[in-house]
Amino acid sequence: MELKNAVAVVTGANRGLGRHLAAQLVGRGAKVYGAARRLETVDVPGVIPLRLDVTDEGSIREAARVASDATLLINNAGISTGATLIGGDVVDVRREMETNFFGPLAATRAFAPVIEGNGGGAVLNVLSALSWFHPADLGSYAASKAAAWALSDASREELAPRGITVSALHVGYMDTDMAAAVPADQKVAAADVAAQAMYGIEAGLPEILADETSRYVKQSLSAAHRPNAD
Ligand SMILES: NC(=O)c1ccc[n+]([C@@H]2O[C@H](COP(=O)([O-])OP(=O)(O)OC[C@H]3O[C@@H](n4cnc5c(N)ncnc54)[C@H](OP(=O)(O)O)[C@@H]3O)[C@@H](O)[C@H]2O)c1
Repeated sequence: MELKNAVAVVTGANRGLGRHLAAQLVGRGAKVYGAARRLETVDVPGVIPLRLDVTDEGSIREAARVASDATLLINNAGISTGATLIGGDVVDVRREMETNFFGPLAATRAFAPVIEGNGGGAVLNVLSALSWFHPADLGSYAASKAAAWALSDASREELAPRGITVSALHVGYMDTDMAAAVPADQKVAAADVAAQAMYGIEAGLPEILADETSRYVKQSLSAAHRPNAD
């Protein structure tokens, strides 16, 4: 899709990757709703603040009513609790699944009729190399991103006849708050990832592999032993 004429809704647009996505969309001429839990935290010039908590279906419905001209939904908001699946607190496991899987699902269900009604468009889901690589110490986060990967594939097929393209963006570590504890040399720039997202949406790519880690992990899926299965 052409971003110049797009009307985008970016969840989690107040910081991290979402802030870069919102700014770059504005730079390409799109109208951008910056969705966040707290309106006052959205500070990207040219972006229209939109209240949206991805764990609150009422707020999602209201956002879809306000942003009734949307043609592009970017499901970017996410959390990482660090919970393990067996020993971790199940409250964190559920919170991660609510935010990283049920959140994008609810937003896609709410915005699909809006986008379709506006002549079609696109959904981009921000996923992770951990959609495919499931280390124990990030088991809960990885499970939520694996579920969101399945959501991306199934919704792509379901929404195609309605004129909506679904892309999934996979990336390893980025230089945002979420990966603050990760050494700098293991992270890629969120601005660069956002630029690849722009290209991928415009090209209608089903999958955007934004760094070396995600390309390596994806390639390893066909191996007899996956990266963490030795
Ligand atoms: N950073 C990495 O290394 C990395 C790697 C792979 C994938 N990702 C994915 O990239 C996406 C962006 O993450 P990031 O790195 O930019 O992290 P971040 O800097 O921690 O930002 C997370 C964003 O999500 C928002 N958010 C969290 N829960 C929300 C909710 N219930 N409703 C609405 N917004 C909510 C946050 O808003 P508040 O300010 O209100 O908390 C914030 O804007 C996420 O999906 C993440 O899983 C990140």
